[in-house]
Amino acid sequence: MSAGSILEVTDLKCSIAGQQVVEKVTFSVPATGITAVLGRNGVGKTSTLRGILGLIHRRGEVRLAGERIDTLPTHKIVQRGVGYVPEDREVFAKLSVAENLALAERQKNPRREFVADLFPDLVARKDQPAGTLSGGQQQMVSVARALMNDNQLLLVDEPTKGLAPKIVTEVADALAEAAKTVPILLVEQNLDVVRRLATDAIVISGGRVVHTAPTLEILDDPELTQRLLGVHAETHA
Ligand SMILES: Nc1ncnc2c1ncn2[C@@H]1O[C@H](COP(=O)(O)OP(=O)(O)OP(=O)(O)O)[C@@H](O)[C@H]1O
Ligand SMILES: [Mg+2]
Repeated sequence: MSAGSILEVTDLKCSIAGQQVVEKVTFSVPATGITAVLGRNGVGKTSTLRGILGLIHRRGEVRLAGERIDTLPTHKIVQRGVGYVPEDREVFAKLSVAENLALAERQKNPRREFVADLFPDLVARKDQPAGTLSGGQQQMVSVARALMNDNQLLLVDEPTKGLAPKIVTEVADALAEAAKTVPILLVEQNLDVVRRLATDAIVISGGRVVHTAPTLEILDDPELTQRLLGVHAETHA
């Protein structure tokens, strides 16, 4: 393991129903802070996260804190301390906020106070069925679930997708606070959020990692962002 990395992914290949969706992805995630995964729609960002978790068929090597996890089933990987906030939030609509959070608790002393301090709005709504929450509030529930446990790493997939600007800021605030306690691998298309949160970024294109660099090096390069992400990133002075 290279010094200071919590996750090492080497030649990860993933397939869904026999169709290859991640070709050959290699990268590592530092043991602190937020690392962004960037790339155009459909390049395999979600599949990379799902492959790390063993939710889809994968080959290659994945090491968590130096130990192989690519041979383990998903529940064992979760037990090792990999939290997941999926792209579609996946809250239990009919269960209350409190019940959603309780179901996520894996350890004897879940981090209830930490989560309550981070999401006071969820405390106020603890008896409300999660299905009646706004998209932003459901996203908070999804993040809160992952934060209940002492994880070694969080995998967070597009947490701000489809949210109003004010809520985007709230979710980003929560992730910034969470990142003080756990390293995060973050798939995020909102480049302002990436700019604010992520120290380093990896760019996936054509099923491979084509670029790894400090975030600003990528986002401050208009040619690179246009070519690899298909967007014009605002250049902030
Ligand atoms: N359940 C599935 N069955 C078949 N193909 C799939 C399935 N899910 C994803 N794919 C394909 O796998 C490829 C990678 O998809 P993936 O969702 O990992 O990309 P992504 O980078 O997360 O995209 P997005 O930006 O839209 O979230 C795409 O070509 C997609 O069409
Ligand atoms: Mg995706």
